[in-house]
This record gives sequence, C-alpha cells and structure tokens, in this order.
Amino acid sequence: MRKQGRPLQSYFPTILQSSSVVTFARISNRLTASMSKPTAAITAVHGYLPPDLLTNFDLEKMVDTTDEWIRTRTGVQERHILKGEGLGTSDMGAEAVKGLLAKRGIDASEIDLLICATVTPDHVFPATANIISDKIGATNAWSYDINAACSGFLYALTTGSQFIETGKYKKVVVVGADKMSSIIDYTDRATCIIFGDGAGAVLLEPTEEGTGILDSILKSDGSGRQYLHQKAGGSVKPASHETVDKKEHFVFQDGQPVFKAAVKGMADVSAEIMEKNHLSADDVAWLVPHQANLRIIDATASRMGVGPEKVMVNIQRYGNTTAGTIPLCLWDWEKQLKKGDNIILAAFGGGFTWGAVYVKWAYNTPA
Ligand code: UT7
Repeated sequence: MRKQGRPLQSYFPTILQSSSVVTFARISNRLTASMSKPTAAITAVHGYLPPDLLTNFDLEKMVDTTDEWIRTRTGVQERHILKGEGLGTSDMGAEAVKGLLAKRGIDASEIDLLICATVTPDHVFPATANIISDKIGATNAWSYDINAACSGFLYALTTGSQFIETGKYKKVVVVGADKMSSIIDYTDRATCIIFGDGAGAVLLEPTEEGTGILDSILKSDGSGRQYLHQKAGGSVKPASHETVDKKEHFVFQDGQPVFKAAVKGMADVSAEIMEKNHLSADDVAWLVPHQANLRIIDATASRMGVGPEKVMVNIQRYGNTTAGTIPLCLWDWEKQLKKGDNIILAAFGGGFTWGAVYVKWAYNTPA
C-alpha cells in the first residue's frame, strides 16, 4: 500500500522524471505492435456449383410437398446436385480453389496451408483438404479438415486467419464445401427440400492496411446434437446392414428446435459482434448470413437493424450448401464489394455451432 502523503513520483522515479521518454516509448511500442501484427485479408474468392439442378417441381414428384410450401417456409426454389460416378466434395473444392488461384494469378505451389470445412468428406480419412491439395498440386501446403457443420466456414476462416496474423504464413486457402446430396434421404420431405451441393473458397494474405478479418465470435453447444445429426457411420454406431436398412446414414433433423435455436443464436451473435466493434447498422455495408432458411436470415437482419438491400441471399438458387453458403455469397456479390466495406458473416448449424466474423473488405474488383 502506498503511504499517505508521499508523492507518487518517488515510487517510479525513472518513469515519471522523463515523461517525454515514456510517451515516446509508448507510441513506439504501439507502432511496433501494429506494424508487426498483420491482419488476414481476403484477397480472392471463387466458387463452384455442379451443373445438375434439382427444382422444387422435381421434388414434388419425389415426396409429398409443393413448390409453394418450400418457397414460403424456406425460400429455396432450386439447388445444384453433384452427379457422376466417383465424384465427391474434393472435386467441387478443387474447382473452387483452381478458379481462386487463376483469379489471383498465383501457382498452387505457393499455398502454405489449405483448410477445408465440410461434413461430407470424401472419406472418413484422409482429410478432404489433403485430397484437394493433391488434386490442385499444392505440393508445399499442409492441410486439414474442420467439421463444424454450417458454421464450418467461419470456424475455418478464423483458424486460417490466425496463421497469417502470427506472421507464420503468407498464403492460406480456406474452402467450404459440401456434397449434401450424399447424406440426404430423398424420401424424407423434412430434409431433402433444404439442402444442395456446392463449394466456395477464399485466399487469405497478410495486410497492414487495416482490412481483413478484424474480429470473430464463435460458439458451440454439443447438447444440441440430438436435434441435428447423422445417427450411424461413426464410432458410436459403425455402418452395418441394419444401419443402412434403417437409413441411419442420412441427415436427421428435428426442424423446429433447430429453427428456434438458429434464430436466437445467429441474431444474438451478430448483434454481439456489432456492439463489440462499435458498429451501427449504418456502418455495416453487408450481412452475409448462412443460407439455411429465409426466415432465419430475416430475423437476423432485423435484429441487427440492417435493411434487406444489404443482405446477401442466394438460398433460392442454391439451397443450403452447409459449409459452402458464405463463400458462395461472397463470390456472387464480389463485384459489388468495395475496399473498406464492413461485412458481418454469420452462421448457425449442427453441433450446435454458431458465430459471426467481422471483415473489412480488402479490394475492389475491376469492372
Ligand atoms: O443449416 C443447418 C441448420 N438448420 C436449420 O437452420 C434449419 C432449421 N429449421 C427449418 O428451417 C424449418 O424447421 C424447416 C424448414 C425444416 C421446417 O419448417 P417448419 O416451418 O419448422 O415446419 P414444421 O416442421 O413445423 O412442419 C409444419 C407442417 C407440418 O404439418 P402439420 O403437422 O402442421 O400438419 C409438417 O408435416 O408442415 C409439414 N411439412 C411439410 N409440408 C410440405 C414438413 N415438411 C414439409 C414439406 N412439404 N417438405
């Protein structure tokens, strides 16, 4: 405890005797810190959608549903489906990354790390990221998968950005890709109407311009697994004749509880990241929500106070491509994005997992 009456300077003589030196040291420390810690900028984005379409009218012939019900309850009108013997998630991911590299004018050998978010890996192992790296010739990259369902891209983006921020790597590719048609039961109207196949990818590179991935808030609650999961094919219930007969390798979803948790989770975390970063609705140029259900998207936008003109929505054309939705939105809107735009990415999915990422866009796309 400091004794009463004794001047503060006597406890810190060196510091307080030369306040100008201290001030200089502080400024210099701050400058060194900001100069030596780059942020991870998204410097390119690309996507891939397989050519085959499955429309609501096709689904009307497969299950007891209507185009009107699907459109009004979910917003989906059609989705892309990957068809073809031997084709999997890695094929879509590889196409997205090839487009990304061509756009940025760099070679696959320059990639340091490739992360793939997916719940539909080509195989349980090896990781789909390993296979994508092999298919594109990323011979100098190490690679791994992240499984966080519909929040997978945000988990992977946040993870990838850390390797850039530490200065360890210069080029990190983050892929979000899912072949949902491989785990959907096309006799179950509760799930088959929602999902589609697709992939998106972004390139992360260091910048000191103050753009890039500026913040993220990610959450998980495994107690939500009872409402959205795949019952068999894992270590708890390995594949058997019985599990196949019971169709337990398909997505199981109890829609209502997932819907309620998604509305609250995605809206709350989006509002939280705005508050944390002192962003008003006017400051936000774009909301990029996971495309699970138009009603969940609307609830999130309204909680943030963001008008529909600032919300990216392509669910009508692609359905829910799980880890693919957010990079596919960025790809679709890339030409409209301006350097310095404040963008909030938000997602909710199986796990439960959810989160939001604050990005300041790093480049203008030439017309
Ligand atoms: O991205 C990962 C996270 N997932 C999500 O965020 C999805 C969240 N959940 C949802 O989006 C919605 O719950 C669904 C789209 C899955 C379902 O919509 P809902 O408004 O929650 O419908 P519901 O399950 O409450 O069903 C309402 C009615 C039921 O009929 P009754 O009992 O009212 O007579 C269902 O049997 O609609 C019926 N129904 C359908 N009718 C026509 C359910 N599916 C269909 C269908 N076509 N495909």
